[in-house]
Amino acid sequence: MTAIRPVRKAVFPVAGLGTRLLPATKTMPKEMLTVVDRPLIQYAVDEARDAGIEQLIFVTGRGKSSLVDYFDLGFELEATMEKAGKSRAALDGSRTTPGELISVRQQQPLGLGHAVWCARHVVGDEPFAVILPDDLMVGGLGVGGALRQMVEAYNQVGGNIVCAAEVPADKTASYGIVDPGETRGNLTEVRGMVEKPRPGDAPSRLAIIGRYILQPAVMDILDAKETGAGGEIQLTDAMARLIGRQPFHAVKVDAVRHDCGDKAGFVLANLAIAMDNPELGPIIEEYLASR
Ligand code: UTP
Repeated sequence: MTAIRPVRKAVFPVAGLGTRLLPATKTMPKEMLTVVDRPLIQYAVDEARDAGIEQLIFVTGRGKSSLVDYFDLGFELEATMEKAGKSRAALDGSRTTPGELISVRQQQPLGLGHAVWCARHVVGDEPFAVILPDDLMVGGLGVGGALRQMVEAYNQVGGNIVCAAEVPADKTASYGIVDPGETRGNLTEVRGMVEKPRPGDAPSRLAIIGRYILQPAVMDILDAKETGAGGEIQLTDAMARLIGRQPFHAVKVDAVRHDCGDKAGFVLANLAIAMDNPELGPIIEEYLASR
């Protein structure tokens, strides 16, 4: 058996237009929208670091430079704060070390598969993670983040892994859906995948959510730039082609998922995370009780 190669790199596709959150996303990248006290992208980067990721690869587009700037050293800000004797602890997660972050451009939003393909030269010939920051995942107590749990599963079985969760039967058309094989613990063998099937056509209710660990062979498949559902180059279609050639599993992680890509999910994420915050929780609860 060939050795399982470690996952050191994570791709963050952040070139989408975020039309469901307009007008907020007209000039502000969706991933810079704040949930309680930090932008969505920072939750995603924190999760990657918690999973041992060393190389962050942002796939950005026009108008998205603030995502890269955010992770720079805030030199003037920090110097001024230091002079004033103010703590800079709040800035800790927002700095990257030299070379930790690389960004590439997706010139046109042709789909998630295309966004991932844009990172191919930086990914090179090694396995990599993909994190969609608008799926904000809060890991269960003491088990680490969603990606860390996926990396632990990957270290057992290797190959390709998608993060999956059961969704209501009438919601399958919003997700890539897994055709499940054998299940052992939290791991289910993937026999096939369908992008956005109508409820009657869905092979299960097991939906793929925004975390993946993939082998570099997926880039060769994406090279063909075949379009699928919605006329977009779909990551799900490319992944489906790896099934049978390489191990492929779906893992159910112990984490709460907030879909921050639409308005209701975004507001609920703010509410849930604020309520879990010891300083803010009582204030929100008191307000809600008064309504
Ligand atoms: P979404 O479809 O949720 O994002 O894509 P979107 O297109 O930005 O949002 P709406 O539907 O218009 O509101 C999932 C992820 O894939 C990225 C998005 O940035 C998001 O993180 N993506 C999608 C790209 O980077 N490029 C694309 O061409 C498409």
